[in-house]
Amino acid sequence: MAEVVIVRDEEAAATLVTAAMLELIRRKPDAVVGLATGSTPLASYRLLATRISDEGLDVSRVRAFALDEYVGLPPQHPQSYRSVITREVIEPLRLTPDLVHVPNGDPANIEHSAADYETAIRAAGGIDLQILGIGRTGHIGFNEPGSSLASLTRVKTLAEPTRADNARFFASAADVPTHCITQGIGTILRARHLLLLAFGPAKAGAIADAVEGPVSATRPGSAIQLHPHATVIVDEDAASQLQHADYYRHAWNNKPEWQGI
Ligand code: PGA
Repeated sequence: MAEVVIVRDEEAAATLVTAAMLELIRRKPDAVVGLATGSTPLASYRLLATRISDEGLDVSRVRAFALDEYVGLPPQHPQSYRSVITREVIEPLRLTPDLVHVPNGDPANIEHSAADYETAIRAAGGIDLQILGIGRTGHIGFNEPGSSLASLTRVKTLAEPTRADNARFFASAADVPTHCITQGIGTILRARHLLLLAFGPAKAGAIADAVEGPVSATRPGSAIQLHPHATVIVDEDAASQLQHADYYRHAWNNKPEWQGI
């Protein structure tokens, strides 16, 4: 099962995520990282940017793949994930833009976009460290309930609760696209290390399902139980429905330092 780390707040989570990222990049300067969008990873990206700049770490060879993109939003739209990744990750971390990939959500090319994305991930040698958020629906990437656990990158219909949650980024709820192109659950499971983050009470049910529920396409986050190296970092609120929280705390508090996450 996944390792569960219950932390005080988002900043404490960011410290762990940043340590894992820095360790990876120092060990492998052309590491391949998987990027999530949404609010959840923002504190981690900010801390990582600060640490990279403080250390003068060379990240010019780091490669990255975003999890997903809306279908039909032009890349220059401020809420396209291409724009979000540029603003929140590429610019502050000073990554090389050409090495950062986001699925192509242009409806004109959509037939080929998904297969092209899978090919690009494979050509890069696979993803070393994949950062994940989780939706209230239990989605990882935009794999809404019912997504095949073996799915690869493809077009999906967004669930209405997801569109409602993301309406905060748009002028009106009607402006949220209805479709997306997302790495599949099978794609995500191929990454060598998964780092799933969740904060706040609204995520407690999705986290309990992901960590302790039966593995089921109805609860896409539960697919992480199939992964040999998954780390779940949550605050107390997001951990509040976990039955074995005391055991996770005990395991973390007694973890040998050399093990890392
Ligand atoms: P959030 O979204 O980080 O904005 O909560 C997470 C998700 O939908 O996967």
